Amino acid sequence: MRLDKLLANMGFGSRKEVKQYLKNGAVRVNEEVVKKPNIHIDTENDVVTCFGEPVIYQEFIYLMMNKSQGILSATEDTRERTVIDLLSAEHRHFKPFPVGRLDKDTEGFLLISNNGKLAHNLLAPKKNVPKTYYAHIEGVVTEEDVEAFLKGVTLDDGYETKPGQLKILKSDQVSEIELTITEGKFHQVKRMFEAVGKKVVYLKRLSMGPLQLDESIPLGHYRELTEEELALLEHLAED
Ligand code: URA
Repeated sequence: MRLDKLLANMGFGSRKEVKQYLKNGAVRVNEEVVKKPNIHIDTENDVVTCFGEPVIYQEFIYLMMNKSQGILSATEDTRERTVIDLLSAEHRHFKPFPVGRLDKDTEGFLLISNNGKLAHNLLAPKKNVPKTYYAHIEGVVTEEDVEAFLKGVTLDDGYETKPGQLKILKSDQVSEIELTITEGKFHQVKRMFEAVGKKVVYLKRLSMGPLQLDESIPLGHYRELTEEELALLEHLAED
């Protein structure tokens, strides 16, 4: 990879700024000052520093966000704030995207990455990756609903869902539930409850595949995945 591209991609500055740093002698490759922007860097073996700071090549980025309400799960929007707008410039540099969508009014676990293979393996319908949601439901959720979800319910467009595991945490005028599904149809959880005559009034995703929401992340904030979490994803980031 070209030296100026490496520096810019790793967030050391714009291509123009990076060229200036090079001219000023701020960049060293294998301890030698290098001023040419176009030299080729072997990202596995060359040691690059900029102002003495190591430039470590990283291709992919993996972020866990605790999405807040009122934010779109999209990369950009002309009018509304998106989850990508909440990222630092350093993280935006990697051109990440939300892996799957949460509705504007849904909170909770959202993986943001630039690894397309991982996204495919987490989202492809035939991979059956489980997603667990916590929700408040207007109306008394019953054992009949649990059974209906286990068989699969018919959505408003005639689609028959795959089985969903519904756990009733509190059955009341406003019930509390956890639901695990392996699909990701548009508004799926809300529409599954509509199919049994009930309304979701609060929705939060707790997990996706092997990853659980870190509840210590404040709403609207995020962090990079830990080494342990990355290890859980390893088999999903391959073909
Ligand atoms: N199901 C929904 O209805 N909304 C979401 O945001 C996610 C799943």
